[in-house]
Amino acid sequence: MKKRKNSLLGIAALIISVCLLSSCGQSAASAEKNGYTLDTIRDYVVGLDEEMELENGKKKAVTNFDNAATTPALQPVMDEVNEQLEKYGSIGRGFSPKSDYSTDLYNNTRDKVLEFVGADPEKYTVFYVNNTTDGLNKLALALIEKKSDLVLTTRIEHHSNDLPWRENGTVIYAEVDDQGRVMYDEIEKQLKNNKVKYVSVTAASNVTGYVTDVHRVAKLAHKYGAKIIVDGAQIVAHRKFSMIGETEDENIDFFVFSAHKMYSPYGGGAVVGLTEDLQEHMPKFYGGGTIYIVGDDWVEYADAPKSYEAGSPNYPGVVGLGKAIDILQEVGFDDIEAHEKVLNQRLVDGLKKIDNSIIYGDSEDLSDRVGVITFNFSDVNSQLVAEELSHSYGIATRRGAFCANPYVWRLYGLTDEQVRNFAECSDINTPGMIRVSFGIYNTEEEVDYLLKVLPEAIKKAKKTNEENWGMAEPLY
Ligand SMILES: Cc1ncc(COP(=O)(O)O)c(C=O)c1O
Repeated sequence: MKKRKNSLLGIAALIISVCLLSSCGQSAASAEKNGYTLDTIRDYVVGLDEEMELENGKKKAVTNFDNAATTPALQPVMDEVNEQLEKYGSIGRGFSPKSDYSTDLYNNTRDKVLEFVGADPEKYTVFYVNNTTDGLNKLALALIEKKSDLVLTTRIEHHSNDLPWRENGTVIYAEVDDQGRVMYDEIEKQLKNNKVKYVSVTAASNVTGYVTDVHRVAKLAHKYGAKIIVDGAQIVAHRKFSMIGETEDENIDFFVFSAHKMYSPYGGGAVVGLTEDLQEHMPKFYGGGTIYIVGDDWVEYADAPKSYEAGSPNYPGVVGLGKAIDILQEVGFDDIEAHEKVLNQRLVDGLKKIDNSIIYGDSEDLSDRVGVITFNFSDVNSQLVAEELSHSYGIATRRGAFCANPYVWRLYGLTDEQVRNFAECSDINTPGMIRVSFGIYNTEEEVDYLLKVLPEAIKKAKKTNEENWGMAEPLY
């Protein structure tokens, strides 16, 4: 097995793609203005008025506060995908005008992604993935060479930025503080005391919404000879994100994100990584599309990104991602951030007025949180409340431990041993929180609606519990 470096074919492909950049529909520089703003965006969100049957038989449009899980589609994203499918041909393989057109659009979207995250095309390569989980697994498979390779991550992480490292390498963790924030001095302590190869951190938590200062972490990682990977799943639709720091040692080496969390529900996402490092490693998944030539018992593999994209690609996912980037940039991240802060504050202020509420994370200083608020009520089971919100009021939230179990247990103050006792329990009798996560289209009126119905939902949840002989502990 061999990987060819700096091949002539690779250089030729680069020259062709640069030349075509100016003539292809979705070039990085050509995004035109279409009137997408925070005030108008709601008109473009698909399905907001769709009435769904509630458990009580009534029909109602759903108020969606589950945007951290996935975001609804935007009509212009769907339109773009449908339009581009008229000209769809095989990517990178066929000889036809449609194939040429689709291949250009597919490749030129890499430039758009690079621009979106401020990465220098001379140094960074984009490869497409199915989602953040897939991207982090692929990176772990590629970068980790032996089980003893040390990865430092934190106790704030989603399982997708924990388990791939656990399974492929050896993981150590930086703890969180009393409010659930990442502790940077812990990160430095771990780096100082251990020979860490990679630091992998989330840019924003899906549980508390805390934004990590990833450039500060990058500086620490580089100081101790490690490379940094950033899980961008919860940042890309919420904050302007640049992989480039104020100084070179603050630059991010690898960044991973999903398109379905940014209003393009066709699957897909991207890894943006240092070209030199990607070239140096083999991705460890193989097949069509990844090679230059195969002989009877030898293979010459292509350079990145081709070597990282085995099999036929998800073209609608890439087209949708490109369009979603255009729209988010046009709406503007300053406005998105300001809007989320208003919604966060309104919800937290309202929750504080409800008896027995518990808000996780820092509920006084919300300035370093994206639009995610997680809470409980100490006198009622959270699953029953979330069910009530859905069944009676058509409000979508999430309840549970949000694929970030170790972090949620810490916010609860539960020890690992205590958590083991819940292993065999049904969901309802396992600790869980209610999460409200905002999208760019959510409104203050929607927050008020939730706050208005919450006391009723709590009352109904308690009644359900009584009628079922105390089926559920409050658990908070
Ligand atoms: C912080 C974080 N990382 C990773 C993921 C995984 O993303 P995906 O399900 O798109 O792979 C999520 C999903 O919620 C997340 O919130």
